[in-house]
Amino acid sequence: MKNIVVGVLTLLILATMGYVASQGGAYNGGEHGKGIQDIGNKTAKVTKVVEEKSDREKEQEELKSIREKAGNIGGFKVSDEYKSKCSSCHGVDGSGMQYGKKLMGPKLFGQSEEEIYQKLDDFKSGRRENMIMKGLLIHLSQDDLKRLAKEIGEFPARAKALEDKD
Ligand code: HEC
Repeated sequence: MKNIVVGVLTLLILATMGYVASQGGAYNGGEHGKGIQDIGNKTAKVTKVVEEKSDREKEQEELKSIREKAGNIGGFKVSDEYKSKCSSCHGVDGSGMQYGKKLMGPKLFGQSEEEIYQKLDDFKSGRRENMIMKGLLIHLSQDDLKRLAKEIGEFPARAKALEDKD
């Protein structure tokens, strides 16, 4: 009998501790603690507004550089096909693009025609899974893939020719 009473009391005490902990009041200084918490929240809000502003500025700069990269880089010439279908993610010279932490498209520059063709074919056939690339390539023929691969494979030579011209 004594054991049962002790057992029930222990359970009650544990339940009370659990309740108090879940309310958080006693451990965080009760009402007083709430006041401090409020101030904390307000400071966090102000900091957030400031951060958002600089985030927006950063975003704008980033967008600007993306637009330049997707459009024209110092006379680097690509086909209209590459420009309209690929440069928005991979950059007009294939150097790859990033938006914030998000990779829009990896670097293609420097890969050979064969490598690029193999990769495009893998995406198109589904051997390599990527919804974006597959969706883009599904309407292109093997000849289109070969033409694009040939062009991308020529990027380093094109860049070098541009450098030599300067
Ligand atoms: C909407 C953005 C987007 C567009 C437009 C786009 N790509 Fe991609 N591409 C990606 C992403 C994302 C990956 C990475 C996929 C992965 O690794 O699974 C990728 C991967 C690739 C790869 C493999 C690169 C590597 O080294 O693994 C090649 C090659 C490629 N793209 C070529 C092209 C070509 C050619 C076009 C135009 C017909 C094109 N891409 C258009 C987003 C894009």
